[in-house]
Amino acid sequence: MEQKKTHNSVNLFLIGFMGTGKSTVARALKKMTGWEIVEMDEELVRRENRTIPEIFAEEGEEYFRQKETQLLQEMREQPGKIVSCGGGVAMREENVRIMKESGKTVLLTAAPETILERVRDDENRPLLAGRKTVEGISQLMEARREKYEAAADFSVSTDGKTAAEIVREIMKKLHS
Ligand code: S3P
Repeated sequence: MEQKKTHNSVNLFLIGFMGTGKSTVARALKKMTGWEIVEMDEELVRRENRTIPEIFAEEGEEYFRQKETQLLQEMREQPGKIVSCGGGVAMREENVRIMKESGKTVLLTAAPETILERVRDDENRPLLAGRKTVEGISQLMEARREKYEAAADFSVSTDGKTAAEIVREIMKKLHS
């Protein structure tokens, strides 16, 4: 009882590269904890009433990044949520500061081969356009690795694991 109260007073942020399973794991976490999910990409698409490729094409990436930061700032006032972050959220210092101040941050990881399988048919991620090869994904992942790791309280590898297994690992690490 006491433990649930403690964790409900903060947010749980899921970060990591595109295709590491943040949305799937958020849904599995919700099943186990009953906490609400905020799916950042979905929320921004809903607010903008256009797709992510449209936002990038019409307004530029920087505009999208500002909207992400705004949404994270709002989350500070709404503790007790599972926040499934867009893959670029941990790249901005300000975002990392907000996450550190308002909750726990879990980094999900996967091998580039696994990611390629998961994103192969997806046309909704502008940063993967022209990069859907193991080499293309590895390069971007390596360029981001340091920032992902610095933003996270701990990380969980998702390769070859079910969502339930990943959730159990997260809960164990959260409570240790
Ligand atoms: C991005 C990841 C996407 C989305 C946008 C940019 C990134 O989110 O926010 O396409 O910079 O890694 P997912 O990680 O949910 O695919």
